[in-house]
Amino acid sequence: MSNQSNNAPPSSVTDAVLLPSEPVPEGTHRVSGVDFEKFNGRDITAAEMVDNMKNMGFQSSAVADAARIINEMRAYRHPETGDKTTIFLGYTSNLISSGLRDTIRYLVRHRHVSAIVTTAGGVEEDLIKCLAPTYMGSFTAPGAGLRAKGLNRIGNLIVPNSNYCAFEDWLIPILDKLLEEQEVANKKAQKTGNEEDELHWTPSRIIERLGREINHEDSVLYWAAKNNIPIFCPALTDGSLGDMLYFHTFRSSPKRLRVDIVDDLRRINTMAVRAARAGMIILGGGLIKHHIANACLMRNGAEHAVYINTAQEFDGSDAGARPDEAVSWGKIKADGQSVKVYAEATVVFPLIVAATFARAGQPQSPDGETQKEMQN
Ligand SMILES: NC(=O)c1ccc[n+]([C@@H]2O[C@H](COP(=O)([O-])OP(=O)(O)OC[C@H]3O[C@@H](n4cnc5c(N)ncnc54)[C@H](O)[C@@H]3O)[C@@H](O)[C@H]2O)c1
Repeated sequence: MSNQSNNAPPSSVTDAVLLPSEPVPEGTHRVSGVDFEKFNGRDITAAEMVDNMKNMGFQSSAVADAARIINEMRAYRHPETGDKTTIFLGYTSNLISSGLRDTIRYLVRHRHVSAIVTTAGGVEEDLIKCLAPTYMGSFTAPGAGLRAKGLNRIGNLIVPNSNYCAFEDWLIPILDKLLEEQEVANKKAQKTGNEEDELHWTPSRIIERLGREINHEDSVLYWAAKNNIPIFCPALTDGSLGDMLYFHTFRSSPKRLRVDIVDDLRRINTMAVRAARAGMIILGGGLIKHHIANACLMRNGAEHAVYINTAQEFDGSDAGARPDEAVSWGKIKADGQSVKVYAEATVVFPLIVAATFARAGQPQSPDGETQKEMQN
């Protein structure tokens, strides 16, 4: 027996471990990351950071991919009409409670998005913040102690109960006006026999009115109303707004404010159907995610989709579903560009906005002008 053969590992092992590689396909990128040496003692910009995350792997590559897809949405022009991508932005309520509201307001103020879908808290917290601030707190502040002090916790944010009292004082007289306008219009319709004279409040029309009434430059709703960007909220009653609407039924009895959700459904679906191209940017999951995707089903799928959320798909939830599940339903086109970023939105969305809409040298729409209506 030779020593050499005794010392060599078994060929079955070397064959398994050192399996020869085929060459990687041409154009495959090497893994690389942010090399701070290259910035030579100056601060790196957020946009540069995202650019340099492209080949880092894991979720940093997904963040850079999201920026790439959004820049593609923004660059598109229809070859004949010059129409741009209709961008649907969705966000959960807590994101308006957080400081991400300021980033969202920037997008709306400069007309970077065409329509918004949010939940009730995403509407009311924007208005309430114009009346009184939301404060930083702690995830670990005990609930019983906060309750005794009249403080409400959203993650590590604190909203005093007095904010909601201020909201009630502000909102109830406006609900009175909406009801009065509804009653006057409907009486007129009865007289004229013309259905067109009827007034049907919808969530988006109420939200637009609230944006005008708050008349405050800090507000997302204010800029959306000014720029004719509809904010859809089919579940408008699931928040403090619902509490106020409930209280208002007693105050206004036997009259009742009526809110038509079907009119809004028609409005958002029509926007999707008529869009030259549709892009979805969806922060969080649940209603806001599905409502936008379902509108895009009406056009046989969006061309672009960026999902940013923390939800997982193993439970079969819509919140956690990857874009490919939406492809199976016809909500994203089979050849569409899409990415899911598995991340907490307040961390990554400002970075993505810095690398896209807010990038230096990018045209910014002047604020306060109305845009073409394409919704009816
Ligand atoms: N401030 C508030 O959060 C608030 C206030 C009033 C009413 N509400 C009501 O609570 C109900 C449920 O809220 P919702 O539908 O807006 O969403 P949600 O808070 O239930 O979140 C839905 C999913 O979105 C994802 N998500 C949420 N926050 C995220 C984040 N920061 N980053 C990444 N992913 C995130 C998670 O997967 C989550 O399961 C709504 O009807 C809303 O009106 C919420």
